[in-house]
Amino acid sequence: MADPCTYVIFGATANLSRLKLLPALYHLEEAERLPSTTRILMIGRREWSQAHCMKEVRTWVDSKARGGTNHAVFERFSARIEYFLGDLHDDDMYQRLASQLCPDCGYPRNIAFYMSVSPADFGPVVELLAAVGLLRQDDGWRRVVVEKPFGYDLASARDLHRRLERCLEEEQIYRIDHYLGKSTVRNVLVFRFANTMMEPLWNRNYIDHVQITHSETLGVGTRAAYYDGAGALRDMLQSHLLQLLTLVAMEPPASMEAEALRDEKVKVLRSVRPIPEDAVPQQAFRARYGAGQIDGKPVPAYLDEAGVPPDSATESYAALKVYIDNWRWSGVPFYLRTGKRLARAQSMVSIRFRRPPQQFFADTQARDLYRNWIVLGIQPQECLRMEMTIKEPGLEMHTRQTSLDASLLDGGGQSTDAYEDLLLDVIEGDRSLFLRYDEVESLWRVVDPVLRCWSANADGLATYPAGSWGPPDSRCIFDDPDQRWRHSMSPEAPGDD
Ligand code: BG6
Repeated sequence: MADPCTYVIFGATANLSRLKLLPALYHLEEAERLPSTTRILMIGRREWSQAHCMKEVRTWVDSKARGGTNHAVFERFSARIEYFLGDLHDDDMYQRLASQLCPDCGYPRNIAFYMSVSPADFGPVVELLAAVGLLRQDDGWRRVVVEKPFGYDLASARDLHRRLERCLEEEQIYRIDHYLGKSTVRNVLVFRFANTMMEPLWNRNYIDHVQITHSETLGVGTRAAYYDGAGALRDMLQSHLLQLLTLVAMEPPASMEAEALRDEKVKVLRSVRPIPEDAVPQQAFRARYGAGQIDGKPVPAYLDEAGVPPDSATESYAALKVYIDNWRWSGVPFYLRTGKRLARAQSMVSIRFRRPPQQFFADTQARDLYRNWIVLGIQPQECLRMEMTIKEPGLEMHTRQTSLDASLLDGGGQSTDAYEDLLLDVIEGDRSLFLRYDEVESLWRVVDPVLRCWSANADGLATYPAGSWGPPDSRCIFDDPDQRWRHSMSPEAPGDD
């Protein structure tokens, strides 16, 4: 087990902390993975007493605990937690924090600072922590976990990096992308590199194209203040979806060590063909939702959501085609797509294989109806599916598609939340699933031309009814007329377009 540490959470009363961080820490407690004297300091601006804070934490945990909250475990967990009232814009707060965490005050000397705050505050908070000496590693490690987005574009990511590197070594910075903590996402690496049979097929000779989809039924909800300044391309595609792309496309790393893994991811991103601004309309598509229905209930248009400015030109749907110009992937399009208020909530990677070189069954139903696909379901189903064509029993040559299914939750295992793994990695000092700075730059380089082009042209923003699969015109990014969006985990559903 790792050495004990103090987890200091900035923005501890905000959504992320309620929905993810505290429930994840509770689950680590339940799994007995928190080192014995670990403490948790929750920093918030709300005038909460310790007792009130614990009441709140209990409700957050109750709503997420798998199999219900265990009373004894919660008692143990709550004994670690302390509420610390403070405004992160107030310099004095950092002096008080330094005194609270002083060497003889009973807190473990290894400290992880979790920035669950607005991205604009990452730089200032780190500078203020440095100013009171809280980032010095004289008597234990100091690590800072930075949430996404890291910057707003390439230029602002560079500015932020310069600010952080004045106060921290790269090894102290944990840039989180929670998708990398999802179990199927990590399974992509196992699937590719622990099985020999995939490797010979995993390239341009056999793969026709790759689709990476994240769809949500939720709308912008209460997050308009953040989301309207970001949009789908920055919020999901620049981070989570491009991360998935790197894992699908990377070469086998020299080892599973953090640096070896991150080197390979960066290599993929550097091979992504830059998108010339005049090619943006052929490679990228954006839209926002109009009014519609989700689960049979009417929902408002994006522009009518609370907090969205009436002149907003922010997209809630983004699709992007990228090419990876390397030996393995030359000419294979990768289609990435994400959207809010779509027909179904799911994330998946679907890989379509080329046709067999000869059509031996041209006179049968097999013709070219079916293709081989590999589908990796990330959520809600965690599964891995290989689809292939087989002959139906009987005298006739009738074929159908069937799938070999490896449900990842077979065997009684229970799915853990991505944050559990990642919070534990921070304590254990394992940075393999966190982003290195050069990776962040490379991610921004991929989307920057699109962002520039979109911000210069407010028109070109299509609308789709909430509850649909987005605008059919998004097909304009496909290379081939027989390529279409795959919406479903099950073999090519009629609804695909
Ligand atoms: C976050 C985005 O990073 O990921 C949200 O800011 C999005 O807009 C969320 O809803 C999706 O994450 P998950 O784990 O629910 O798929």
